[in-house]
Amino acid sequence: MKANIGITDKNKEAVAIILNELLADENVLYIKTRNYHWNYEGDNFMEMHKFYEGQYQQLEAIVDEVAERVRALGHYAEGRMKDYLRITRLPEQDYSSEQSEQLKNLLADHESIVVNLRKFADKIDTIYKDKGSSDFVTGIMIQHEKMAWMIRSYLKGL
Ligand SMILES: [Fe+2]
Repeated sequence: MKANIGITDKNKEAVAIILNELLADENVLYIKTRNYHWNYEGDNFMEMHKFYEGQYQQLEAIVDEVAERVRALGHYAEGRMKDYLRITRLPEQDYSSEQSEQLKNLLADHESIVVNLRKFADKIDTIYKDKGSSDFVTGIMIQHEKMAWMIRSYLKGL
């Protein structure tokens, strides 16, 4: 059934596409962070293991919120791995157990998502007239800015 929420069909569809692309990026970053949680090696293993766990738990919550926002616009959320891999803008690197490499990969992904969301937050508001989704992606952007800061703080000494 159509969502009758004061946004044109064309605009709802455009925003749903943006959100599904974000959903793909969030899923790739979630799995990458879990991969590092599992495969990290170093004398601060438990510190990094727990740090990554805190971050992937936040990403898991974001994944769910983004998918459900797509549904609130009356569209279907992408829900297959092959669709995420086709849509995502984030690269998947070779396996690494090394701290600085893992952190640099994660930082690049968080920063890439932040840059995209900053652009889309304005576009969703001014062009697609969807204030709710604009505020929503701004909130997600702020969470990524904080996660990026925490990763960056580890990298200073490396
Ligand atoms: Fe675990």
